[in-house]
Amino acid sequence: MVWPSGETAFVTGAASGIGLGIARALVASGAGVALADIDGERLAEIARELTAAGGKVTTVELDVSDPGQWEAAADRAEAALGPVSLLFNNAGVSGGGRIEETSLDVWRWIQKINIEAQFIGVSAFLPRFRARGGRAHVTNTASMAGLVPMVTQGAYVASKFASLGFSMVLRDELRGTDIGVSVLCPGTVATRLGVTAAEGEAKLLGRAADVELVERNSALLAAGADPDRVGEQVVEAVRRRDFLIVTHREWAPLVEKVHAEQTRAFGAFDGRHGVDATARMLASGATL
Ligand SMILES: NC(=O)c1ccc[n+]([C@@H]2O[C@H](COP(=O)([O-])OP(=O)(O)OC[C@H]3O[C@@H](n4cnc5c(N)ncnc54)[C@H](O)[C@@H]3O)[C@@H](O)[C@H]2O)c1
Repeated sequence: MVWPSGETAFVTGAASGIGLGIARALVASGAGVALADIDGERLAEIARELTAAGGKVTTVELDVSDPGQWEAAADRAEAALGPVSLLFNNAGVSGGGRIEETSLDVWRWIQKINIEAQFIGVSAFLPRFRARGGRAHVTNTASMAGLVPMVTQGAYVASKFASLGFSMVLRDELRGTDIGVSVLCPGTVATRLGVTAAEGEAKLLGRAADVELVERNSALLAAGADPDRVGEQVVEAVRRRDFLIVTHREWAPLVEKVHAEQTRAFGAFDGRHGVDATARMLASGATL
């Protein structure tokens, strides 16, 4: 049996898009899947589809941004399918617009779902992984917006840079254990993100979604990668224990531009503060 066949995965945002693609690929690889999402209706449809295809799945209605719901969600998944050994923190939303036009409510809504929930998910499942022992894996969905800044996406970019940093530290802290970490940084993927996120934001603000914006975003996403192919790529990468998972080469020059600016700043600096012992310590491989 090739890992993760016979294992149990917990996938958030599994009712649509990339989460659904990951769930389908996990089922195809022989894993059981707890499909977690805030959208109960779509979850039920997906569960019917995957069960009909011979998959071992269960549904868990979960608002990932509510810390009070996670333990019960994990218990429900494990009661139905056995101990979870793969966590996919994938649910996410976008929105807000330019920073000076973004309300604090929308900013917090995005941070709570895109990054705080990843911390809560890890906090709920790591003790379970450790208690059970054996191979386990956490995969966080960040974005190319975690590597490259994008105007009009300030709240989203902040949450995705945070997800990347969180995943890097988690990887380093779990080094030497059998618990792996990956972070998925997709470019454009053809999902419902433009619709789900706009509807969520409109509900939060008590107004109708901006139809023109939804259409523009949806058209951009529609030309993206097939989420089922991305799901297959993710499962292959997790099997190999790859850390950073990217989907499109076109982003490389934009990432290099960010790095080049940082390198230029160090090159131009006159060194006036002397030696930094913390940096020396980290460079030697020691921890803080
Ligand atoms: N589509 C892209 O181009 C793209 C690119 C980079 C990163 N991403 C990331 O991929 C992830 C998945 O997005 P997608 O593109 O598949 O979008 P999607 O809207 O198709 O799927 C997201 C799912 O998350 C669920 N969700 C939203 N809020 C939730 C909450 N509070 N609790 C539980 N579930 C919730 C939605 O109901 C939906 O089913 C997100 O983290 C997104 O930021 C997407």
